[in-house]
Amino acid sequence: MGNIIKKLAIGLVIGGILVGVAKALEFPFVFQMLFLGFAMLGAGVFILLDAPPLRTMSGAKSVVALVAVYILLCTVCIAGATFLPQFDPEEEKGKIAKILKPQFEASEKGKTEELIARAKALDEQVKALEVKLMTLGAEQMAKGLSTGTPIPTPPPTPTTNMVAGDFMKLGEEQWQLMECYNCHKLRGEGGKKRGPELDNIGSFLTVEEIQQKITDPKSFMAEGFEKEWEKGRMPDKFKELMEPKDILALASWLGSFKNTSVNTPRPIKKK
Ligand code: HEC
Repeated sequence: MGNIIKKLAIGLVIGGILVGVAKALEFPFVFQMLFLGFAMLGAGVFILLDAPPLRTMSGAKSVVALVAVYILLCTVCIAGATFLPQFDPEEEKGKIAKILKPQFEASEKGKTEELIARAKALDEQVKALEVKLMTLGAEQMAKGLSTGTPIPTPPPTPTTNMVAGDFMKLGEEQWQLMECYNCHKLRGEGGKKRGPELDNIGSFLTVEEIQQKITDPKSFMAEGFEKEWEKGRMPDKFKELMEPKDILALASWLGSFKNTSVNTPRPIKKK
């Protein structure tokens, strides 16, 4: 009896340690209990070793006993397993969909909201410009009247600048959208996959040449990146993914980066 208690106690201690470790390693609760179960099963086997030997059996009786034990074990295992949580792929899929749906909706909603907000901001800018233009026109008119000089046509207004600014913004968006930042560092950000830093690319390449590099990555090779160039590390997919207008915007935006303090490798013309 003392022996049984001792073995049970050892089983509990080992089980406790296993549960503690499993918890620390963030195993789910079911697994923690499974480990405890294994420890207790082990204790059970050691306890059984001390049990008095059964009477020896022989012949048909022993066969029947063997089959009976086998059936008993099978029944226990199968019945026990049906109580455990079962894996159902449909249920898992449902769970994943549930997790992803709000995120997806939020990002879709966020996008439209952002677009609407941007359209509104642009509209306001245009209105402000109209007012400015009108006051400017009135001033000119007043001047013209007082000095007798002909009224000049209104000078080109910042409207053109605004459009250019928007174009640059489109370029920056393309940089994000096409995930160029995965491989290229720019303004100190990105470049995890180690392509060249591009902060000084505008000092080397014209907008046209940058467009060429984007549509055909083999057209230029960054000095010191011979291996990457040969392996075609920079993807040759942007021509299909992007509209010509987007490529131009991205190239124009990149062409404006002329930060000579950054060591952008010299591009070598290959085609
Ligand atoms: C999977 C990684 C990867 C992505 C994504 C990628 N590039 Fe590159 N890019 C490279 C590597 C590597 C090089 C250097 C080898 C070469 O010149 O082909 C390079 C070179 C360049 C160069 C020449 C740099 C120099 O100093 O000569 C430019 C410009 C450039 N990439 C622009 C872009 C733009 C714009 C995008 C997004 C539309 C982009 N890259 C996306 C890997 C990438």
